[in-house]
Amino acid sequence: PNYWAVVPAAGVGKRMGTNIPKQYLPLAGKTVIEHTLDSLLQHPRIQAIVVAVSSEDRWWPECLPQDKERIIRAPGGAERCHSVSNGLECLLSLAAPEDWVLVHDAARPCLRREDIDRLMETLHGHPIGGLLALPISDTVKRANAEGVVLETVNREGLWRAMTPQMFRLEKLYRALREAIAAGVQVTDEASAMEWAGFSPHLVEGYPDNIKITHPQDLMQAEDFLKRQGR
Ligand code: CTP
Ligand code: MG
Repeated sequence: PNYWAVVPAAGVGKRMGTNIPKQYLPLAGKTVIEHTLDSLLQHPRIQAIVVAVSSEDRWWPECLPQDKERIIRAPGGAERCHSVSNGLECLLSLAAPEDWVLVHDAARPCLRREDIDRLMETLHGHPIGGLLALPISDTVKRANAEGVVLETVNREGLWRAMTPQMFRLEKLYRALREAIAAGVQVTDEASAMEWAGFSPHLVEGYPDNIKITHPQDLMQAEDFLKRQGR
């Protein structure tokens, strides 16, 4: 099977609070999204990358990286899951049903080559697929809306889900479409697969692969990129 990527990049970055979407903010000499696309473009096994971009986006054309032939633009959607679904739809005519698709947030610019390799190696021959994740190391509390602790949650078996999330194209597309149609809240691809009755496999990733969400995340990302020599 071939490998493809879908990058949802149609968010507005509300929590970042800047007037341009966070994927277009400067970071270590490029924009955030250029670093993200570079990570995927530099992997020789990824055939092409479908990027879901909002129709109101005024920044995208200027920040296309060099390797334009391997980048395809798809329409963004109202929520992340709609953007991903549009991206997958675009792949249906190019890829085989059993091909792999790596869905990766535009807002995760510090993805390392080793992470992609480990996903591909670990999930080789897997019928469904899986995702990068990190075991939780902090003590976890459940609290009410007023911030009063109700209990300490046993952290055994708890992981933080990251991207890329790598699944078989047709199974993922169907699961996502059906979950959306059923009104299920799907915040990542794995949750759509779980809802459809599949069991995604977790692959431990590097802590570098943070999602840029709040302003302070940019400084940490810059640190990680520097240490990676990028
Ligand atoms: N995304 C998308 N389409 C949407 C919403 C989000 O493609 N309708 C993308 C974002 O561009 C980002 C990724 O999904 O690359 C992860 O989402 P998130 O971190 O929540 O980004 P935003 O939605 O832009 O940020 P916020 O929630 O703070 O507004
Ligand atoms: Mg969001």
